[in-house]
Amino acid sequence: MPATLIKGSEISKQIKEELKQEVSLLKEKYNLVPGLATILVGEDEASKVYVGQKEKTCKELGIYSERINLPNSTTEAELLLLIERLNNESKIHGILVQLPLPKHINETNVLYAIDPKKDVDGFHPVNVGKLMLGEPDFIPCTPHGIQELLIRSGVDTNGAEVVVVGRSNIVGKPIANMLLQKKKGANATVTICHTGTKDLAFHTKRADILIVAAGRPKTITAEMVKEGVVVIDVGVNRLETGLVGDVDFEAVKEKAKAITPVPGGVGPMTIAMLMYNTVQAAKMQSGIK
Ligand code: GUN
Repeated sequence: MPATLIKGSEISKQIKEELKQEVSLLKEKYNLVPGLATILVGEDEASKVYVGQKEKTCKELGIYSERINLPNSTTEAELLLLIERLNNESKIHGILVQLPLPKHINETNVLYAIDPKKDVDGFHPVNVGKLMLGEPDFIPCTPHGIQELLIRSGVDTNGAEVVVVGRSNIVGKPIANMLLQKKKGANATVTICHTGTKDLAFHTKRADILIVAAGRPKTITAEMVKEGVVVIDVGVNRLETGLVGDVDFEAVKEKAKAITPVPGGVGPMTIAMLMYNTVQAAKMQSGIK
């Protein structure tokens, strides 16, 4: 039987509606307006789209948004100075530097400069460490979106065999870590596969839940999954024929129990969870539980 679709576009709407109500309540009760600064350096077309979507969603939810576009010629020192200013600006609760950065800027130096309390991406080592210890302040947006998709579509992760394909700091490593925690929406047996994995299909065929963040179309074909698998496709590949994920969707959906489409799966969840983190940041900085 063909898979049911896990529609991130629908689930994210629900989360945004919850957040909109919370933002309204924060304004009414505490005169608090969460604020997010987004910084884009250079002219990467995909990044421009992402930052534009983030700004638009802030507006929809009543979150204050400051968008800072910098030329490709911006130096690392200039960017670090801007971050320092935003670290000290009280109406800004969250700072997001869109990645990738131009090659002449050291990404690590930039991510380390963001005040961990304003690190709504959850990329600062303090937040990475807290996540790993199971005590996160900010969960990175894409893995958080994946976990919410699983929870809200009733996928039981408890004791499940989860296979993650991809070991990036943004998706693979954090989602694997989150799903192995002894918590609700987690407690899975997790395997991480990557470009060094000898027999990828051996692992993917064992998966009850398969999370694919490999960055390559058709990394997963129908022969590589078992009947009844739940597939989360994190891939965003722009082909001439349109946007596709990392999974051969048409073939795999015939074997899967449930699958996320691309677009309309994980993508919209990432933005919703960024909004969630911004609201959390505002509450934390204001001493509101
Ligand atoms: N580029 C791709 N994904 C992300 C993300 O989650 N956060 C930031 N800042 N940049 C990205």
